[in-house]
Amino acid sequence: MIVISNAIPERVLITGGAGFIGSHLIDALLSAGRYVTILDNMSNGNQRWLDTVIKNRNLEFIEGDLSDESIILTAMKSQQQVWHLAGNADIPLGFSNTRIDLDSAVYGTRNILEAMVHEGVKEILFASSGSVYGTLAEENVTEKSGPLYPLSMYAAGKIAAEAFIASYANLFGIQSWIFRFGNVLGSRMSRGAIRDFALRLATNPSVLTILGDGTQEKSYFLIDDCIEGMMWLLSNVSFEQEKNVEIYNLGNPKVTSIRTIAANVVKAMGLSNVVFEYTKKKAWPGDQPVVRLDVSKVKTLGWSPKVNSDAAVSRAAEQMVDYLNLGER
Ligand SMILES: NC(=O)c1ccc[n+]([C@@H]2O[C@H](COP(=O)([O-])OP(=O)(O)OC[C@H]3O[C@@H](n4cnc5c(N)ncnc54)[C@H](O)[C@@H]3O)[C@@H](O)[C@H]2O)c1
Repeated sequence: MIVISNAIPERVLITGGAGFIGSHLIDALLSAGRYVTILDNMSNGNQRWLDTVIKNRNLEFIEGDLSDESIILTAMKSQQQVWHLAGNADIPLGFSNTRIDLDSAVYGTRNILEAMVHEGVKEILFASSGSVYGTLAEENVTEKSGPLYPLSMYAAGKIAAEAFIASYANLFGIQSWIFRFGNVLGSRMSRGAIRDFALRLATNPSVLTILGDGTQEKSYFLIDDCIEGMMWLLSNVSFEQEKNVEIYNLGNPKVTSIRTIAANVVKAMGLSNVVFEYTKKKAWPGDQPVVRLDVSKVKTLGWSPKVNSDAAVSRAAEQMVDYLNLGER
């Protein structure tokens, strides 16, 4: 059960509310009696999550793209706070479609901010990513680490979006919470190693091909912790005079290796003697093989994830196998 912050006003706009993280947020906000508007172009939204809430009288769903300024203005009317989660979340896609992150993350975020100014909405929470740190993330990275050299169009888009949010915060007094997530886990994920391994093993339960050389290790945390962390910060951060933007790394301080992820999925599926093969090269263009987030800024304030990285992977592997109906074959 996610604890909803008292700092969430009555009316909230969630961009990307039909996606993985957004759909969980919608469920939590509706249960807490908030009026929620979703703006989503359904490029990666899931109708299944929408169907469970669409009849709720406190929900308005607007199908629209971040490039459509007039639909954004309609969605922004009477809102008090924006959770901006929409955008391309498929990092490899930016290698073949070099416009998608520019359009959704950069122009899209700018369009949201313009509409906020137009409608007098003064609070934004933004889903950024640990990808902004590039190779710096091989060591523990704090929110002050830099300079930031992105390895992917996705990361470049997040850095640019953060920069525009900071500028609007300064010029128009919009209070801005920027969250740089580690890898978020849950059964509603539409991509990622856990889902990929489960589907591969369903096809071939003897051999699992793992992209990369097997040395990758990243910070993972569960969706409930992700949402609770954001809620907690919303309630507990007070902005200094004249400073309207705060950035937080959100995730677990320890990392989990790709081999441990594979072993957890094998276990969750009730398999044994699976041979792991590696493709040896970089998993995909723009990948960061190692992501270590220093999360002491939020920890010092008083919040940490309830479930550590290894336990989050183990739990998410079980949930995913269950969700895909792939257990005990
Ligand atoms: N899941 C993670 O591990 C993770 C980690 C770091 C950051 N993030 C960020 O969190 C946010 C949510 O991630 P997610 O995992 O729920 O992804 P997701 O793909 O499940 O959700 C994104 C939603 O945005 C919608 N969308 C995409 N482009 C759009 C556009 N141009 N206009 C309107 N809607 C659009 C999609 O249809 C989808 O419903 C993203 O911004 C992502 O970059 C996620």
